[in-house]
Amino acid sequence: MAESNLFLEEKIKNKDAVIGVIGLGYVGLPLVKTFLKVGFKVIGFDVDPKKVSLLNRSRSYIKHVTGKDLKPFIAKKKFRATADFKALSEADAILICVPTPLDAHRNPDLSYVMNTTEAIAGCLRKGQLIVLESTTYPGTTEEEMLPLLEVKGLKVGKDFYLAYSPERENPGDEVFTTSGIPKVVGGVTSACRNVAKALYDQIVVRTVPVSSPRVAEATKLLENIFRSVNIAMVNEMKMIFERMDIDVWEVIRAASTKPFGYMPFYPGPGYGGHCIPVDPFYLTWKAKEVDYTTKFIELAGEINTLMPYFVVSKTVEALNEQRKSIKGAKILILGIAYKKDVDDQRESPALKIISLLQEKGGKISYNDPYVPESKGHRDYPGLSLRSIPLNTGMLKRFDAVIIATDHSVYDFDWIVKNSSLVIDTRNAVKKKRKNVIKA
Ligand SMILES: NC(=O)c1ccc[n+]([C@@H]2O[C@H](COP(=O)([O-])OP(=O)(O)OC[C@H]3O[C@@H](n4cnc5c(N)ncnc54)[C@H](O)[C@@H]3O)[C@@H](O)[C@H]2O)c1
Repeated sequence: MAESNLFLEEKIKNKDAVIGVIGLGYVGLPLVKTFLKVGFKVIGFDVDPKKVSLLNRSRSYIKHVTGKDLKPFIAKKKFRATADFKALSEADAILICVPTPLDAHRNPDLSYVMNTTEAIAGCLRKGQLIVLESTTYPGTTEEEMLPLLEVKGLKVGKDFYLAYSPERENPGDEVFTTSGIPKVVGGVTSACRNVAKALYDQIVVRTVPVSSPRVAEATKLLENIFRSVNIAMVNEMKMIFERMDIDVWEVIRAASTKPFGYMPFYPGPGYGGHCIPVDPFYLTWKAKEVDYTTKFIELAGEINTLMPYFVVSKTVEALNEQRKSIKGAKILILGIAYKKDVDDQRESPALKIISLLQEKGGKISYNDPYVPESKGHRDYPGLSLRSIPLNTGMLKRFDAVIIATDHSVYDFDWIVKNSSLVIDTRNAVKKKRKNVIKA
């Protein structure tokens, strides 16, 4: 038993191990790049043939991994992408980065993880390490994946290794890139944990072993619930202080001078992305098994979901002050991505704001330098828009401009100077201006 475990560890340390990454999206692709950079051969797997084809032609579809990053590795045959899952048997370590969304009833949709596990089980061989990186509820690795992987008689910890290691990728973050963020690892057995730790030791500053996959799964959820709850708390503060005519941003700046016991979170138009609005509800679902209702998670969800409505109501009020009706008003949304400097519009609060304004009769356009087109959203089937170019003449034609996302490339002074009304949801405009309303 120890032998095959040590053999794989040795292969990893010598960088002779082949890495398979399943799911080449916002998490999987940066992981591919990180393994390539330290010298491993990597095979990328995805069910989307368009993505596979683009990657093999050294073209990328996400902003922070470029085709240029991949090109030299493709030329040296160190990287290839494929939709043929039989090639999984070539990989010594298989890392799973597939989506874990909520279904229409807001319950965990593990179908992507289970389909992937079945594909791996079909060609699992002795000596392979499998690691789930997708965010999920405690128990997924051992209760859902393990039985499928052992179905053909191979034994975990002896014939193959299984672990959970949550991804902490923060897209667009130039300070904390994949290799600079410590990684938590929980193995089904100690041999599983040791092999997984040996693997991540090759690419990240620090690997943090924990006693089980369940602890690692719970760790990721705690991190994201912590964010969701604190964002909701500060959003509530924003609404209270606004009634008291107190600038919440000034309060946060002042509170942040306390050197202990406080860390700043910032209000906004609502939360977005594939993680914070979704992941906490994985625990809500699982907690029912132990007869527990997750009150903090629900309350945070409720407040954060309210924020786009708050922005819309501030916009309606501001237009009213100018003797204008929302019906027929021309409104420009700046930034449709869910946060600054990224191209990801999943769960973006800007989408909700657009749809609420459209329901009220507003004529909506948007600009986002990173998102040329916005359509095909499950929750907003009627929404179909293209980003329009920004210029002085067009800004003047809008009744209101809503700063939904404060991309660094925007010149906010110029925007304010050329717009009749600006609704600023991100504190992007630092100076007090008559035509700027904070929301
Ligand atoms: N985006 C983030 O910032 C972030 C951060 C930390 C953790 N996560 C977690 O990482 C996981 C992946 O998120 P993402 O943002 O990279 O998603 P994504 O949608 O960007 O990428 C997932 C990829 O998996 C592919 N895919 C779907 N089913 C597949 C299958 N059966 N086999 C192979 N490929 C398949 C899709 O085509 C897509 O390319 C999720 O669990 C998410 O919660 C995301």
